[in-house]
Amino acid sequence: MPKMAESVLGLDIGSSKISSVVCELPQPQEVIIRGLGRSATTGLDETGITDEDGLSQSILRSVQRATRAASVKPGRVVVGLPTFGTRFVINSGVLSLQHVSGLVQAEDVTQCLKRAMQVVRHPHEIMVHGSSIETLLDGHPVDTPIGKAGRQLEITARVIFSDQNMVDSITRIVKNLGFYVAGLSCDQFGAGAACLSDAERQYGALLIDIGGKWTRASLFQKGTLVLGSVMPVGGHRITQDIAQCLRIPISDAERVKIKYGHVLPFVIPDGDIIPGIPSDGRPRDIRRRILAEVIRARVRETLALVRKKLRHVDMSGFPVIIAGGGSAIPGLGILASEIFEAPVRLGIHPQFHHTIRNPEDHVAVGVVLYGMKTGAIQVAQHPTTQRWWQRAWG
Ligand SMILES: Nc1ncnc2c1ncn2[C@@H]1O[C@H](COP(=O)(O)OP(=O)(O)OP(=O)(O)O)[C@@H](O)[C@H]1O
Ligand SMILES: [Mg+2]
Repeated sequence: MPKMAESVLGLDIGSSKISSVVCELPQPQEVIIRGLGRSATTGLDETGITDEDGLSQSILRSVQRATRAASVKPGRVVVGLPTFGTRFVINSGVLSLQHVSGLVQAEDVTQCLKRAMQVVRHPHEIMVHGSSIETLLDGHPVDTPIGKAGRQLEITARVIFSDQNMVDSITRIVKNLGFYVAGLSCDQFGAGAACLSDAERQYGALLIDIGGKWTRASLFQKGTLVLGSVMPVGGHRITQDIAQCLRIPISDAERVKIKYGHVLPFVIPDGDIIPGIPSDGRPRDIRRRILAEVIRARVRETLALVRKKLRHVDMSGFPVIIAGGGSAIPGLGILASEIFEAPVRLGIHPQFHHTIRNPEDHVAVGVVLYGMKTGAIQVAQHPTTQRWWQRAWG
């Protein structure tokens, strides 16, 4: 068997499932999936970690499935952190430039960025990300100010906080499983790497990730995440609505949602019946159109909430991309394009269709792609895995 190139584990700790992906990295920005594993999440809910041992067992099960399938255990892991406790802050720092040369120095940029990242941290928080999203020199946007003449530098930074105890616990768990933590990432970066093209990240796109207990709206522009919003509502809430409105157990509600769910009641023929669902102790037939009406109400409210949160942002011309397990409900794209009055695409970007087959694995693969992009994962060019044209043309 040919020797495998470097590998790394991508781990997405979601509120409903933990997804592990063993990725082979033949060269920068290319991943080959060698093994996939999933397990139901335990020990974690929307209030944080409730049972560290339970969570550790869930992570272990997911990781073991992926490493067995791949027949290899990578040494490094990139972790997509749970959404609980995530807080985005955009802040600006200003610096008067006083260097005798009149030109901006590297230290000026560092100092100005530090000021931009001086954001008040709540006592239980840890900063998991901080970087600049816009630089102005004397009021004019510049890509790199270093070496340019100017009197005032202003940097706008994006700072992301997470829950300190949760990050500590997760780091401990994956270290105890024998991994070196190469990077900790937020869902938004992983989803952005797997679901958007470079052009979409550059010219503007809204990414909505509908998960189990959370929905995340992320606005990408100028190649980066410029705005993030997190809402405590997702696929679980839809299941709860179905259980409550149709008076059926949660487990049946989840099953009928996945098997018969739809977002557009008017496309369901009136006579479509879901037979024999236990309700109040007796099997009962349920009209599929009624199920779709329940689902539509919650999905509409969730998407309207996203729209409301971003009402101050000019998104005209931006495509909307919807990802996560919740994006699998048929008809969602049509409803979303009505609400956002924009073109809508579902799930991972077509360039990764051959790599990521299941929309629920987008973050696990995306955090590895993101790790390569940021340099958290260094990938050596492997001569044996170079493409023929690279060998031919250097
Ligand atoms: N075919 C489907 N139709 C409808 N809903 C689906 C389907 N497949 C999965 N889901 C729903 O997607 C949700 C899980 O999505 P996902 O795996 O993206 O969540 P997660 O990453 O674990 O959670 P989070 O992102 O909130 O932390 C569940 O509520 C599940 O019921
Ligand atoms: Mg998720």
